[in-house]
Amino acid sequence: MKNYTSINDIDNINSWIDEAKALKTNHLKDVNLGKNKTLGLLFFNSSLRTRLSTQKAALNLGMNPIVMNVSGDAWGIEFGDGTVMNGNTAEHIKEAAAVVSQYCDIIAVRAFPSLTDKAKDESEQVLSAFKKFASVPIVNMESATGHPLQGLTDAITISEHAKVSKPKVVLSWAPHIKALPHAVANSFVQAMQKMDVEFVIANPEGYDLNPEITGNTTIYHNQEDAFKDADFVYTKNWSSYKDYGKINNTDPNWMITKDKIGDAKFMHCLPVRRNVVVEDAVLDSKSSLVIEQANNRTYAAQLVLKKILENL
Ligand code: CP
Repeated sequence: MKNYTSINDIDNINSWIDEAKALKTNHLKDVNLGKNKTLGLLFFNSSLRTRLSTQKAALNLGMNPIVMNVSGDAWGIEFGDGTVMNGNTAEHIKEAAAVVSQYCDIIAVRAFPSLTDKAKDESEQVLSAFKKFASVPIVNMESATGHPLQGLTDAITISEHAKVSKPKVVLSWAPHIKALPHAVANSFVQAMQKMDVEFVIANPEGYDLNPEITGNTTIYHNQEDAFKDADFVYTKNWSSYKDYGKINNTDPNWMITKDKIGDAKFMHCLPVRRNVVVEDAVLDSKSSLVIEQANNRTYAAQLVLKKILENL
């Protein structure tokens, strides 16, 4: 594997899950694989889990991680082709990506969407530019439209906790005070479509995700109907896709409560706003898998880096 930028880069999700579980039981097995190799982590946006778990994964493989907060610490990067750079940007991605490629054997990038320009966001301007102008493999640490490290993590976590051969998994929208990206939801949808699960989505009218991603997946506009017999309830807010980036609904009745989910396991990528997205009683209960999900971020990243290192 050269790059990991989408859930579609996973050739066989079941074998990847098995490999990740094996790494988890012996996380230093490949500690010499990444010896003298450098992972560059470039953050255009904030992070806690991705930043630390990807570094931890690199260390487990013997790699040297180096981290930069691009927004704020680096020169402003220009992505336009042929731009007269007499504005705020001081360095072009053509030079920036080529230079970082000389310091790093793999580059991991986090760059969120604008949520104001759908076409620009869907072009994956930052991630695509790194893929084009870097000479080393690229890992997506959450881009405008996808968070494939999180999606792989979630698939691993569901596999670990499934009590039946084909569990029912519900992705439910929940309210939020800010306009949030679609990336986590998109990658979760793509991961579930690759797994042997009964998968449905619940969101209010006007909040359907990109139909090119949801495809034939059933979408409920009634949360109670969707939650019937659920084994896993995965919750995430996203802003409207149709009315791009807008908050048209903050209905607190969509918040996840213990009463609603019953015996189902609760999942969320974190960070989560308590008592806005989900009530304390869920997060503080044994039903919540959020801490285990965060733990699995290390092994998802480790598996991805391992596959890339084996192909260098
Ligand atoms: N879930 C996740 O990506 O967390 P961070 O934004 O803290 O990295």
